[in-house]
Parts: sequence; structure tokens; C-alpha cells
Amino acid sequence: MRKSDELLSIGEVAARTGVAVSAVRYYETLGLVPAERTAGNMRKFPRHAIRRVSLIQVAVRFGISLAEVGEVFASLPEGRTPTKKDWSKISTQWNQRLEDRKQAIARMQEELTGCIGCGCLSLMTCNLLNPEDELGRDGPGARRL
Ligand code: FES
Repeated sequence: MRKSDELLSIGEVAARTGVAVSAVRYYETLGLVPAERTAGNMRKFPRHAIRRVSLIQVAVRFGISLAEVGEVFASLPEGRTPTKKDWSKISTQWNQRLEDRKQAIARMQEELTGCIGCGCLSLMTCNLLNPEDELGRDGPGARRL
């Protein structure tokens, strides 16, 4: 058996990636990490599971959902582990995701700036507490029957 064909125990995958055994088990149940069952019904993982778990950890750190990671993994031919070329494409997508989030945070900060030092908490004038309140422009109280 070549070293690349060697199967690892769940404990070995956890030790190599620095995640809890329960996390590896969870990723396996979600189908993110492939595992085989031995005759004794023990989980055994191919070596490339280490790369998958490591990529999942990166995604988690960046706030990418496990569902999105699953989509990325599912898009790979025959469910293989990402190659260098795949990773280049995936990291570009995730970078765009971070950029979008950064811009959304900047917009939220801009909206919040008007409230700093104000404290009015007005449902009529504060755009954060009552965004796009078109009927509120006509005055307080019910506007529709
Ligand atoms: S709290 Fe006064 S404008 Fe938002």
C-alpha cells in the first residue's frame, strides 16, 4: 500500500488538523470529508481528508458557511479534494466574499455615524430604527386601515 492510499483513524485526522474528533465526525456526517467503514465499523479516512478539514477550518475562520464549503467540494469532479488550481479559484471567490462583507460593514458604519452622539432613538427621524418609513413622513399613528 502506498503512503497516499493509507487510511487514517479519526483521531489521527483530528491530531493532524488540530480540530476536535467530534468536529471531524460532524464534517463526515455532512459529507464534507469522505470516510470508509472497516469491518469493525470504524471510520477510516483517506489522507486527503486532512486537506479537506484544513480548508474547512479556513472557511470557518473567514465566516464561510459549511453549506457553501459543501457546494465548493461538490463542484469538484468525482468529489476529489481541491488541487492547487481549484484552491486558486476558491480563494478568489472567498476573497470576493470578504470584500463584499467589508463594503457592507463600511455602509453600516456610515449609517451608524448619524446616531453617534445623537441618542434621540426617534422612530420618526432615525433612519436606523425605522428605515424607509414612508408612511411615517405623514405623521405619527396608523396610516392605513
Ligand atoms: S439615534 Fe438619533 S438619528 Fe439615530
